[in-house]
Amino acid sequence: MSKYEDVVNLALRRSIFFPSSEIYPSAPAGMFDYGPYGASIKRKVVDIWRKELVQKENFLEIEGAQIMPVDVFKASGHLKSFNDPIVKCSKCNSIYRADKLLGEKTGKEFPEAMPVEEYDKEIKANNIKCPKCKGSLNKTVLFNLMVKAELGIKSMVDCFLRPETCQSIFLDFSRLNKTMRIKLPVGISQVGRSFRNEISPRQTLLRSVEFSQMETEIFFDPDKIDVIENFDEVKDYEISIQRQGSHGVELISAGKLVEDKIVSGKLVAYYLARVQQLYEKYGIPLDSMRFREVSKDDRAFYSKETWDFEVKTSVGWLELIANNYRTDFDLKGHMQASNQDMQYVYPDGKKLIPHVYEISIGVDRTFYAVLEHSYKEEKKKDEKRIFLSLPSGLAPISAAVFPLLSNKPEIVKKSKKVYDLLNSCYEVFFDSSGSIGKRYARMDEIGCPFCITIDFDSLENDDVTIRERDSTEQKRVKIKDLQNALFMLVTGMKKIKDF
Ligand code: GLY
Repeated sequence: MSKYEDVVNLALRRSIFFPSSEIYPSAPAGMFDYGPYGASIKRKVVDIWRKELVQKENFLEIEGAQIMPVDVFKASGHLKSFNDPIVKCSKCNSIYRADKLLGEKTGKEFPEAMPVEEYDKEIKANNIKCPKCKGSLNKTVLFNLMVKAELGIKSMVDCFLRPETCQSIFLDFSRLNKTMRIKLPVGISQVGRSFRNEISPRQTLLRSVEFSQMETEIFFDPDKIDVIENFDEVKDYEISIQRQGSHGVELISAGKLVEDKIVSGKLVAYYLARVQQLYEKYGIPLDSMRFREVSKDDRAFYSKETWDFEVKTSVGWLELIANNYRTDFDLKGHMQASNQDMQYVYPDGKKLIPHVYEISIGVDRTFYAVLEHSYKEEKKKDEKRIFLSLPSGLAPISAAVFPLLSNKPEIVKKSKKVYDLLNSCYEVFFDSSGSIGKRYARMDEIGCPFCITIDFDSLENDDVTIRERDSTEQKRVKIKDLQNALFMLVTGMKKIKDF
């Protein structure tokens, strides 16, 4: 079984995530629900991003509507250009992505943005037929990925569910500019759902129709792309880079990326560094991360320079983030279409359409990558132990409290007291059902870092055992010291062996 399957099995077993509307066979593929532990881990993925990449950078965060009128997407270019090339079988009507089908059948890579005639030429040259029924394939057509929204009885305005969270950031820029005393460069962030009409959703959270993004658009003066206040903090920090045309990864410092003109300027190098640091906090090892320089043919239509941030997983390198230099494409488009002046005005009256650098993060894919990298199996004699070695900041609960025996009222009573004591400052979970081994196993599988057990000795000595998830090491701690001990452990200021 692949690690991907192990992770999905664990997710289903513990309801971390699972197919949405699953009791109805008619439910379309590509939508997932997060259960309590999954929702908690996902929230923490967002919380750490917010702390590290929004608050520490002094960015503003908004929450825009998910349904937007067609005019937004005419101006943004999505109505015309946000397409997948698809082919239909002339016999059984199965539909395929032309670029993916060609890639699978030839072992080569085909860009998403080739002219449709080129796909047809390649399909013919490689004699590609329908994989299901061997029927011949119709001509390639472009299929728009946006999901239409019907509003009211007779909708007067065509609307769409947003295909990316960033459009409301562009639309709101001039309002925030006027009311929030913005100074360039400024980042505006948003976390929320987006929707894409994937014709073949697959691999659970990795290619779904409805998904979460955490995006930041950094508005800046292109003449000042090299004026970055905190650049020295990352100047010598090495970033894992894969240049166009190269198959290998190089570690290049942010300073050198600028010096050698590998990126457009300090602003880009600074935020590549910040992103990599964020994923170190998520527990992804450096040798499993890379920023892949994306060629012109594979870049989104609005981007002049793109670095896809990818993480190595059992299903290959997975794109988690598009780092796009969008220039003034979006603001210019919306200014022309809406007839509104969205320019930034300097105190001396100089006007400018800011350029935009985007950090567009897929939350669900990040969540999956974190899960896969923390998934561990350990064999002891005949027993297999599965645990998620999540960083404490991502664990769905901080600690579980167990009475060793649930049929001993004095132990249960003391355990409840310990639970109440911790519940005021930590996310704790009380569990008295099943053998202690099973309770540990359940907590290991959802990544709970500490289990606290109250036993017969606790009644005498007023203490508990704390068991650490990864090492399974146990230490006794006095109840009066427990709140502090857990603080030291959760924050990583002390290890279990230090007690
Ligand atoms: N905003 C870029 C993206 O969603 O890919």
